[in-house]
Amino acid sequence: MSATSSDATIADLVARMTLEEKIGQMSQVHAEGPDAAHHIGDAIRAGRIGAILNNVHVETVNELQRIAVEESRLGIPLLAGRDVIHGYRTVFPIPLGQAATWNPDLVREGASVAAREAAASGINWTFAPMIDITRDPRWGRIAESLGEDPFLASELGVAMVRGFQGDRLGDRGTIAACAKHFAGYGEAESGRDYATTNIPENELRNVHLRPFHAAVNAGVSTLMASFSDLNGVPASGNEFLMRQVLRQEWNFNGFVVSDWRSIDQLSIHGLTANDRESAAAAASAGVDMEMAGHTYVHHLADLVHSGEIPIETIDAAVANILRIKFELGLFERPYTDPSALPPAGSDFALSAARRAALQSLVLLKNDDGALPLAADELASLAVIGPLADAPYEQLGTWIFDGDPGLSVTPLEGIRTLLGEGVEVRYVRAMETSRSRDPAPFAEAEEVARQSDAVVLFLGEESILSGEAHSRADIGLPGAQAELVHRIRQTGKPVIAVIMAGRPLTLGNILDHVDAILYAWHPGSMGGAAIADILFGVESPSGKLPVTFPKMVGQIPIYYSQKNTGKPPSPDTIVHIDDIDARAPQTSLGMTAFHLDAGYTPQWEFGFGLSYAAFDYGKLELSAPSFRDGETLTVSAEVENTGKVEADEVVQLYVRDLVGNVTRPVRELKGFRRIRLAPGEKQAVAFELEASDLAFYGRDNTLIVEPGEFHVWVGGSSNATLRGEFRLEGSE
Ligand code: NOJ
Repeated sequence: MSATSSDATIADLVARMTLEEKIGQMSQVHAEGPDAAHHIGDAIRAGRIGAILNNVHVETVNELQRIAVEESRLGIPLLAGRDVIHGYRTVFPIPLGQAATWNPDLVREGASVAAREAAASGINWTFAPMIDITRDPRWGRIAESLGEDPFLASELGVAMVRGFQGDRLGDRGTIAACAKHFAGYGEAESGRDYATTNIPENELRNVHLRPFHAAVNAGVSTLMASFSDLNGVPASGNEFLMRQVLRQEWNFNGFVVSDWRSIDQLSIHGLTANDRESAAAAASAGVDMEMAGHTYVHHLADLVHSGEIPIETIDAAVANILRIKFELGLFERPYTDPSALPPAGSDFALSAARRAALQSLVLLKNDDGALPLAADELASLAVIGPLADAPYEQLGTWIFDGDPGLSVTPLEGIRTLLGEGVEVRYVRAMETSRSRDPAPFAEAEEVARQSDAVVLFLGEESILSGEAHSRADIGLPGAQAELVHRIRQTGKPVIAVIMAGRPLTLGNILDHVDAILYAWHPGSMGGAAIADILFGVESPSGKLPVTFPKMVGQIPIYYSQKNTGKPPSPDTIVHIDDIDARAPQTSLGMTAFHLDAGYTPQWEFGFGLSYAAFDYGKLELSAPSFRDGETLTVSAEVENTGKVEADEVVQLYVRDLVGNVTRPVRELKGFRRIRLAPGEKQAVAFELEASDLAFYGRDNTLIVEPGEFHVWVGGSSNATLRGEFRLEGSE
């Protein structure tokens, strides 16, 4: 439908609606279970419900649609929403794991598989992607995020939107996406879920809003207002976010849904005195649809009659919602025919999930080439730990509809890969990741002693991350460190595979294992992918989408920090154990570091080892300077100096040396995944335009400021191959 005809059709429909029907379109109702029609059929018939969430019974959803389309006065179909976050029946790695692939094509494919599987259940709208920027691994929802960096999260968030929505929303198997949570949620104080966020406008615009702007530009259908309090005005009542930024500046023409009852929570926050005021605040601020609460249904009509909410506000909200229903093709095709879609858990879906898992695995440590294990040199292998054979736990958070029956666990993956040739002995050793009982460790030690090598599957089960599952201590829970220490005593090679929904602090096991493979929660095919990496069928190629702290007190720690007036360096820092108490305080160098943790993280953003080795050289810039309207090409030669073919994620960072507001010490501006055979070289070129270097300046408008820049190309945010260029002012 063309823009104009759709606008006219929508306007015509809105003009024919009663106020009650309009408010119905603005209400989304939780409608679980096969008998939902029994509970909400009458309300749908009366036009009092425009959207449902959480019904996954296709016959029921079709029945609810039938009531809406055939029995309500205006026949407007329903939106049917669900949290389809990283897969549906087939589960892909948690979003943070998918971000570790640095592979937009894979991320897009994962979302499109999920969309098709979900669509077969009648779902036409997902509450994803979550593109909150977070620098706090204590926050349980970091698992759902695409990491700490606005550029990476923008690229991958857009890939997810495109995967869910397809080339054209309304094509079979596409569903509307929802960029969430607008905005700032990832800054929750101390990582405590739902806690307050205070983010200066400049930081908000330069960091947190960027992925949302990218998603809007990519055509995301909907946004979700956050639960959180942003600078004193909770997001669900925040006019600045939804009216000024989203509508006026970005021209968004989809709709905004509240989070689950986040409108009635406005009074709990203390922004409003009661539900009536909350409804008024949210509607005026630009929340078009209320999820799960009743403030709109109970109060909007009265607010319109009293003149407190102009009818134009209601009409605009309804038009925004109807626009998406039209774009989804729901008016022409309200019913779902599951047989027209591929079956869930198809070979295609599972192999896509396997590819995503494979590229999400990050090798963090590999002393003396402990990995890969040589299958032909092993007679026996000990597989130990609570996450080695836990089909549900490897799926991660938000997998309402995930099918653990599809899971290939690491134990299965290893057994399948090794076949009869190697004896694999398995000891769970801990009931859960949190168990403190060391009694089963004796058996684990014994089995380790009898084996040629040990692979320990440690970390957190899925319930320890996700919504409302934040942690203050992000070390390995329970007695896992003790288990590692006991296994270490056997003298066997020890490989740790960590499954977790967040970066963990691993200081207490780091020196007691030979290798660490970080697996996040890798989804249905995680075990097969892990086996491939452990035995060198493929080289690890995941890179960290988030900085790993050494200890929790370093948080927030992220690569794109500001320089400060007193930046630390190796010669200005002293460790707490080495302080000479009688020396003058200034002998410490007086720079920005911690006495116990220094200033570097455990592993930096962008880091990840390979079984190959990559050399970076020949950095070339197409010109020493360029200006707006021109393109600067930055290229570097990458050579695989190792012995195996492998993928590498080549990363480009810049630093703007002087800004009208201070600029980060590095910012990611480009990345590319390449594959090189041993001895192969490739020149990798990135193009920069002046707009790539734009930022929000002191007056919070977007500016392109002339000046000097540094540029690095390398395999992590610590890349050392550096060049320089100048951005000239416009002529
Ligand atoms: C609350 C969560 O914050 C949000 O992300 C989710 O989509 C809704 N609940 C619906 O389940």
